[in-house]
Order: sequence, then C-alpha cells, then structure tokens
Amino acid sequence: MNAPQDRLAILDAHMMTTYARSPVVFVRGSGCTLWDDQGNPYLDLVAGIATCSLGHAHPVIVEALAEQSKRLIHLSNLYYSEPQAALAAWLTAHSAGDRAFFCNSGAEANEGALKLVRKYSHRIDGHKTPMVITAEQSFHGRTLATVTATGQTKYQQGFDPLMPGFEHVSLNDCAALSERVAAIAASPSARLAAIMLEPVQGEGGVTPASKDFLSCARRLCDQHDALLVFDEIQCGMGRTGSLWAYEQLGVEPDIFTSAKGLGGGVPVAALLAKEHCSIFGPGDHGSTFGGNPLACHVALAVCQVIGSAQFLTAVTERGNELRAGLLDLCRQFPALYSGVRGKGLLLGVTIRDDVPVTSKEVVQAAFRERLLVIGAGPKVIRIVPPLIISSMDIQDALARLSAASAALSATTT
Ligand SMILES: Cc1ncc(COP(=O)(O)O)c(C=O)c1O
Repeated sequence: MNAPQDRLAILDAHMMTTYARSPVVFVRGSGCTLWDDQGNPYLDLVAGIATCSLGHAHPVIVEALAEQSKRLIHLSNLYYSEPQAALAAWLTAHSAGDRAFFCNSGAEANEGALKLVRKYSHRIDGHKTPMVITAEQSFHGRTLATVTATGQTKYQQGFDPLMPGFEHVSLNDCAALSERVAAIAASPSARLAAIMLEPVQGEGGVTPASKDFLSCARRLCDQHDALLVFDEIQCGMGRTGSLWAYEQLGVEPDIFTSAKGLGGGVPVAALLAKEHCSIFGPGDHGSTFGGNPLACHVALAVCQVIGSAQFLTAVTERGNELRAGLLDLCRQFPALYSGVRGKGLLLGVTIRDDVPVTSKEVVQAAFRERLLVIGAGPKVIRIVPPLIISSMDIQDALARLSAASAALSATTT
C-alpha cells in the first residue's frame, strides 16, 4: 500500500532532508480523506498539522481561490488592498486585537510579535535589555528568535548562538513565573518586556495552560508594564471550540498570533495587537507576500465559516465525542495509554511512561490502518482533524486507532 522506495528516493533526490516523511505520496483530498498515488484512501486526523480547518477541497475555499485569482493575486504592500482591509476588520471585530499585521507563517507572526514587544519595551526604558519569558515545552517556530523562544532544547541544538533576551519557566507554575519576573525586575540592566504563552501547548505535548497560570501572567505583565502575548497559531481559529482559545480562559492578551487554520491551507498568518501596543511605524516591519489579496480573500471566507456560533458548537460537540472515544480507547488498552488531554479538536492521548512504546510507533501503526495522526513529543499522540469532521468519521478513526493499538499491543507485550 505504500509508495515503492525508488519512487520516494526520486521525489527526495533534490530536497534537503529536513523532514522524516511517511512513505506515501498524496495526490488529492476531500473532506477528511486523502488519496495516495495508488488510489488508496486515508482518514486524515492531521489536517496539515491543524491547518486544513475546513478539510480538503472545501467548496468555500475553492470558490474564494478561483474568484480572487481571476481578480488580483498579488499586490505590494506599497498600495491598499480591499481583501486585506476586510480580513483585518473581521479579525479585529472578533477578537481582543485592534490592529493587524499580515505575514505568511506562524514563525513569522511570532517573530513580528517579538519585534513589537522589543520596540514597546525600548520606548519605556531604552537602556534596559527587553526580556521575554516563555514556557518550557512551548513551540513558537523555527526562525532564530522563535526557536530561542521555544522552550525545547532539541529544536535549538546546532544553532548557537541563540538570541539574547529569553528565559523559560515551567508551564502552570505561577510561583516559578513570579520568581523569574522578580529576578528580572531586580536587575539594573534588564526589564520584563513580555510573557509569551500558548493557551494550549500543541507541539510540546497538547498541554493546556491553566486559568490560574494565565491570570498570574496577566497580573505580572500589568504590574511591570509588560505585554502578554498569546501564540494561538495551533490552538486558535476555532480549534478548541471557541474562535480563540483564550476566550475560554478569561484572560485577554495584549498581542496574539494566528496562522495554520486561518487560511484553511493557504499560507497566511496574522499578528494582532491592542491599540496601545500597535506601535510599528512605516518601515519598522514588512513582508512582500504578507497579506496579499489572494491569501486574505481566502482567509476571510474561512473566518466567516469558522466564526459562526453553529460551527463552533459543532467543534465542541465533535471534540466531546472524540474525547469520549479516546477515553474508551484508554480503558480498552490500559497497558498502553494513560489518558487524554487537550481541548475541542486539539487532543492528545498519552502513552504510559512505563511501557517502551513511543508516539512514533503508534503513528506508524495507525498509518498501517490508513489513519493519519501525529506525535507531540515522544509520548503523546496528537489528534487535530479538520474541524468539519463528522461523527461517522470520528467513529471510523476510533475503530482504526483501536485496531492499530491492538496490533501494537500484540507485538510489544
Ligand atoms: C504554537 C505554534 N507556534 C508557532 C508555530 C510555527 O508555525 P509555522 O510552522 O507556520 O512557522 C507552530 C507550528 O507548529 C505552532 O504550533
């Protein structure tokens, strides 16, 4: 069922080997199904890693792409564009942000947020080094600044020197966070510029930040005239059942970033900030492709679908169904799995620490059942399907995951 090795070698021949790919070539998709080049269907619970929010070939996206591509695909940011303004208006009307900057990827949006944070800090006290605190196990991207912000050394190894001005604390540990903030405040040469957090950590293990921890971060930022930044790149755009994950946590950021699901698969990302910290001036930041008419027109169409109360309620309902099914799976395989965590349709199944099974092995076993899931660290299976997933597809996915788990249990015990 997999693509022959020589075919894969040809496809890899001129590529840098930055990805450990599964042995399959996908050629088309529809809804939650992907077909390989041999005509085999796979059930897709990866969705381009939480990106194809409306699934594959959704008519709204297809139509928006066709419509805008006939009108105007690209325009320099030296000129005004209606799709960009319309997307900014929609996003600011539906979030805590007052102003938007558009770019093309999550890392770029976070990079923009970090530049904005530093500029804000320099305005307050230009003599002090702006410090940004992020969480251990966080993931914020692969550029030099965002990989430094990322609280996982495995992504940083080999890329020294990293950027100055970053520290990491344990997630959900308010005492540790307060201690770091106090230490920075006591320094004659540094000041707290920002605390940057994912409301639900994705890549690092599908771990939700607690309400208490986010309130603590908010309070500390307010006390020190620092900015609270939420990275909603994976957990935002409806994924947790509300448009933004922070809405369920009762804490508003000063700045937040969105990407992945925003364009439903078309590359587009946004940095949003409240008015008081929207302090970029002409020349401070920019992007050739950022916010081009094609990407913005599609993203607006995606937002209009995802932003409806009915759609978000369905995400919560499907999330509850999936969670219940995954808990059943844990009960069915108590020697393999220890629990389920996450929110809405950003869920993780944890593998018991005391069994020598890795998430990679479960992902491979699922792949043999033609089910796509991914890992989030060595011990968590991450499940981030298209948000349009049906109850039937959920039941099908659970049956395949059960078969994969049974096969894995048979070989490991
Ligand atoms: C929370 C979070 N931030 C940032 C990024 C980086 O996004 P991109 O890969 O689009 O640069 C990711 C990607 O997985 C992410 O999950």
